[in-house]
Amino acid sequence: MQALILAGGKGTRLRPLTVYTPKPVVPVVNRPFLLYQIDVLRSAGVTDITLSLSYQPDKIEHILGNGSEFGVNLRYITEPSPMGTGGAYKFAAESLGDTTIVFNGDILTNLDLTSLIEFHRAKQAAATLAVVPVEDISRYGVIDIDGEGRITKFIEKPQGDELSSLAINTVNAGIYILEPAILDLIPTAVSRSFEYEVFPEILENDLPFFGYNMSGSYWQDIGTPENYLKAHQDFLAGKISGFDLEKTAVYDVATRSEIDKVSIIGEGCSIKPGVRIKNSVIGPGVYLDERCVVEDSVIWAHTRVSTAAHIRSSIVGRSCHIGRNAVVSEGSVLGDKTTLTDYTRV
Ligand code: GDD
Ligand code: MG
Repeated sequence: MQALILAGGKGTRLRPLTVYTPKPVVPVVNRPFLLYQIDVLRSAGVTDITLSLSYQPDKIEHILGNGSEFGVNLRYITEPSPMGTGGAYKFAAESLGDTTIVFNGDILTNLDLTSLIEFHRAKQAAATLAVVPVEDISRYGVIDIDGEGRITKFIEKPQGDELSSLAINTVNAGIYILEPAILDLIPTAVSRSFEYEVFPEILENDLPFFGYNMSGSYWQDIGTPENYLKAHQDFLAGKISGFDLEKTAVYDVATRSEIDKVSIIGEGCSIKPGVRIKNSVIGPGVYLDERCVVEDSVIWAHTRVSTAAHIRSSIVGRSCHIGRNAVVSEGSVLGDKTTLTDYTRV
């Protein structure tokens, strides 16, 4: 079995974080995001992985290389222009084996793929979609399933009356197993959306189309700042099992500073006296000057936080400079290289 990761979107909802860092490799607990998907695939014995790219492909390839460092084989396919999720699958078809596991490139999950694969085989499905319950279905592809697991409805991001008439809370988790029969539904060299075109067509053609409920596993789309921060908080709260987090970094820390047990500090940080860090992830090479406070936040590499600054429930990009006594309040998202002058409040 081979895998295809759809990682060609622009990551607009995660701006400004994705201006210089494409979404598939934004750091999540100080690791490029796609490594979590690679871990899940490798655990199920899936080591041939194609990355379907279109936005900033060189940066992604530079960070992940040929995959040997992570125990997998990575291949890259770059579309000349974005072809949509279904079009990207068709575009990659020649390098894919028969049955393909497809991942949206922004899904953080610890799903046991072997169960999903077994389910797909037992049902002799042409396509199996993992489905997950959520509170707000409007941002997702809504899926209805009958008693045998057959998908009977697929509606991408329903709005208005259509949304209010739906008494369903299960949505498309962005993890699929597809047989080559699905490729036959997609024309070559055109843009096609799985969600708006291909999935409804599978239903129209009455192919065996199944939904696998993954409600017992962790699932989060990290494609918005709120969800990205939530994923970090869930990691720190121990809600996401199955991954080894990097907790052995070497950094320089003053004795008179307070770092709670759950926070994770990156390699080569400097933490000065009186600093307080609570429930946060600090990237490598970050400098936290005296008495600054970082709570419930994520700070990317090489940022400098000056004396007595306070950062709360925020995401601070790479190489920022936060001035003395500045206050970064809840929900702020600062892009790379942001400079806040002393005493600024955002
Ligand atoms: N190669 C390639 N080419 N990849 C693409 C393209 C493209 O043209 N367009 C989008 N992608 C990739 C994105 O990089 C992302 O990893 C994935 O496809 C899904 O795109 P998003 O833009 O993140 O979609 P979404 O979050 O609004 O909705 C999708 O995910 C939901 C689950 O999080 C849909 O699949 C929904 O049905 C689903 O519920
Ligand atoms: Mg998404």
